[in-house]
Amino acid sequence: MPARATVRNTGSKSSTAARVAGSEPLKISTPRKPLIHPLVVFSMAFSFFMSVSAEVAGVARDNPIQLDKTVMHHGAVQMDVAATAEGGGTRVGAVMSAIRQRIANRSLTPGSKLPSVRAFATTMQVSTSTVVDAYERLVAEGVIASRPGSGFYVSGQVVPLALAEIGPRLDRAVDPLWVSRQSLESSDATLKPGCGWLPPSWMPEAALRKGLRGLSRAEDAALTDYGTPLGFPPLRQLLARRMMERGIEASPDCIMLAESGTQAIDLLCRFFLETGDTVLVDDPCYFNFHALLRAHRAKIVSVPYTPTGPDIEAFAKVVAEHRPRLYITNSAIHNPTGAVLSPVVAHRVLKVADQFDLTIVEDDIFADFELTPAPRLAAFDGLSRVVHIGSFSKTLSASARCGFIAARPEWIEGLVDLKIATAFGGGRLSAELTYNVLRDGGYRKHMEALRARLSRAMAETGSRLRKLGIEPWLEPQSGMFLWCRLPAGLDAAGIAREALAENVVLAPGNAFSLSQSAGAFMRFNVSQCLGDRVFQTLGRALDLIR
Ligand SMILES: Cc1ncc(COP(=O)(O)O)c(C=O)c1O
Repeated sequence: MPARATVRNTGSKSSTAARVAGSEPLKISTPRKPLIHPLVVFSMAFSFFMSVSAEVAGVARDNPIQLDKTVMHHGAVQMDVAATAEGGGTRVGAVMSAIRQRIANRSLTPGSKLPSVRAFATTMQVSTSTVVDAYERLVAEGVIASRPGSGFYVSGQVVPLALAEIGPRLDRAVDPLWVSRQSLESSDATLKPGCGWLPPSWMPEAALRKGLRGLSRAEDAALTDYGTPLGFPPLRQLLARRMMERGIEASPDCIMLAESGTQAIDLLCRFFLETGDTVLVDDPCYFNFHALLRAHRAKIVSVPYTPTGPDIEAFAKVVAEHRPRLYITNSAIHNPTGAVLSPVVAHRVLKVADQFDLTIVEDDIFADFELTPAPRLAAFDGLSRVVHIGSFSKTLSASARCGFIAARPEWIEGLVDLKIATAFGGGRLSAELTYNVLRDGGYRKHMEALRARLSRAMAETGSRLRKLGIEPWLEPQSGMFLWCRLPAGLDAAGIAREALAENVVLAPGNAFSLSQSAGAFMRFNVSQCLGDRVFQTLGRALDLIR
């Protein structure tokens, strides 16, 4: 039996002390805390910039992946340079764009007071006359208004949320949302070595058709009615048995079905986070974590990832310093690196989590690709402070959306309320279809064949990439991803842009990196790399940007 970490937070229902300590998640029936004063939010947003930058400096020092050396070493300087780039290269433009960004991410809301000219000049490391100039131009544009003797205030109404405006404005080639859009929108003529899923011909199409035929004969309710609050009971029972095989003890009552892995994480963010809360992710990590967390207006901090899990010294440091509410990670087959968490690192992660009352979301979406089961945080922890999620988008169907959350019972209670509030009783048809396919022996056989096929594709893609001077950072034990280092001095975003001109969608490293320190890396999906065209295009793109 795996050892269980002791957990201080026993989830007592509505203990104020626990809430203050940040350990009590949102209860749907309890009104949320009053909004934090805008200036506090501003200072939080600023300290976020500073902390991310400080962390970037840390990455340069400690990062075991040895990412780019081109990181800034002083927070304010980095902020200034980033904003300068966004503001058309001038300092006045940089200050204007920094204020616009705070309005877009609602750290500054209509009616709230802007920082004083002097304070903001210090923040941005520019002269006071630059800030005065910027504020005056924003007044002329009607974005802010001046109240003589009092200062500057945000005018207008709350603007609709624009995710692309939140956080540093990234080059489109490495913007998480843009990379996802390109992959989702591309036509049949487009090759997608950068996408995160298998080609349709690799999916269990015959088993799905068989499952659909079964469904067409099902009782009327299955075809027309809402699902139950927790979701289709036979599927939850089957999931409980499958989790047990990986050492995770979860009764069917501790499992709630969701409509996808993304919805599972979205519900968890709604449940645990308030605006401005800090969330820790791996660097690199699955890029949509960044986008989703931005949608929840969370502050994101990151920890460098090593071949055996997060860099544990950096992890302890960042948790102690930033006190994140959540850590979101993949233990088994990490996206994008393909790394697997070691038992030693798993224990140390749980120890730190215990010490700082950190909740961990373990996203296990690639579980069925594993050749041998890796350690799961949820198994060591006994689903105490770890929430385990999964979905069948990668192995069964991304079209019939079905995911799940396994967590302690009182958390499942609150999550069910949130699911009803935001999605009602959705996903019944998909859940029944998923159940039909999973219980059929054909699925296991399909997965065995798929794992063997992926191993062959991994070997072949690795060798073809090496011929181009592109080196895998790690030989993954399983899965579909190869995280690779490009030949010295080459920038992944530039290569991605060149390849896109030839209808090949790549996934440049910085799309996965909060610290933007993976510019020399690229993720390849080996199932989408078969044939010559990907490598011919890559070769040409490498030559063009050399
Ligand atoms: C690590 C990880 N989590 C979650 C998801 C999203 O899964 P779903 O399609 O079930 O929303 C993905 C998709 O690529 C992923 O790679």
